[in-house]
Amino acid sequence: MLLGKGKRDLLDVNGIEVAYGHAKVLHDVSLRLDEGEMVFIVGRNGAGKTTLLKTISGLLKPTAGRIVYQGQDIQGWPAESVAQQGIRFVAQEKKVFGDLTVKGNIELAAHASGEALETAVSRLTELYPKFSAFLNRKAGVLSGGQREILLIGRALVGNPNLLLIDEPTEGLAAIVIEEIFRILNQMKSQRVSACIVEQNLSVVSQLADCIYIMKEGKIIREIREKSQIANTNELEKFL
Ligand SMILES: Nc1ncnc2c1ncn2[C@@H]1O[C@H](COP(=O)(O)OP(=O)(O)OP(=O)(O)O)[C@@H](O)[C@H]1O
Ligand SMILES: [Mg+2]
Repeated sequence: MLLGKGKRDLLDVNGIEVAYGHAKVLHDVSLRLDEGEMVFIVGRNGAGKTTLLKTISGLLKPTAGRIVYQGQDIQGWPAESVAQQGIRFVAQEKKVFGDLTVKGNIELAAHASGEALETAVSRLTELYPKFSAFLNRKAGVLSGGQREILLIGRALVGNPNLLLIDEPTEGLAAIVIEEIFRILNQMKSQRVSACIVEQNLSVVSQLADCIYIMKEGKIIREIREKSQIANTNELEKFL
């Protein structure tokens, strides 16, 4: 053990229940993530994956359960306070500020986090060198894949502790999925902690430290064994 420090729980979601009005959609959901881990949530449409990420990020309030982050119970905190603690949510809808330039989009986040614009921009171009030529282009003209990359780059501004990313490859062509994969892989090698909802099992099985399978608002499996993570055929059967 290094310097007497073991692996540390970064996030511990315990038995949360979430409802939209009277419709209960998450039932006794628990999930754990250690520092530096990349954890994936998979499940069919409507399983409750987005609801789970929104709840962790403070956009939805659970009616029961606990969300412990860095040893602190953040359940019920407003989204702004959760973000201030270093949790960043990249939503499923790939919404950028289309009238602003790529750089302008980064500038907003840099301003909010107090990070120098140059640092934030260089992190983005390191992630995706092609953006160097795009910095002054309006974000509205970017392709779906480039928007997602911009959103991930924006979420990384200020060096957050935990990224929550909802379906980064959804609706993208195979060649663009490859780019997103490369970026996530790079983040993994830098030990960026992330909890990612993803339906592309090939991407999931190559990057996951742990996979949670969701079905009808419940976690039906937690898979941490490497050979099981690599076996996409078996994973498919749980969906
Ligand atoms: N704002 C809302 N009001 C009412 N019900 C909702 C709302 N958002 C989602 N739901 C319902 O909650 C359930 C879970 O939805 P959620 O969006 O979390 O699923 P998901 O796993 O992210 O699906 P997808 O793969 O389509 O993104 C679904 O039955 C959905 O219809
Ligand atoms: Mg969703």
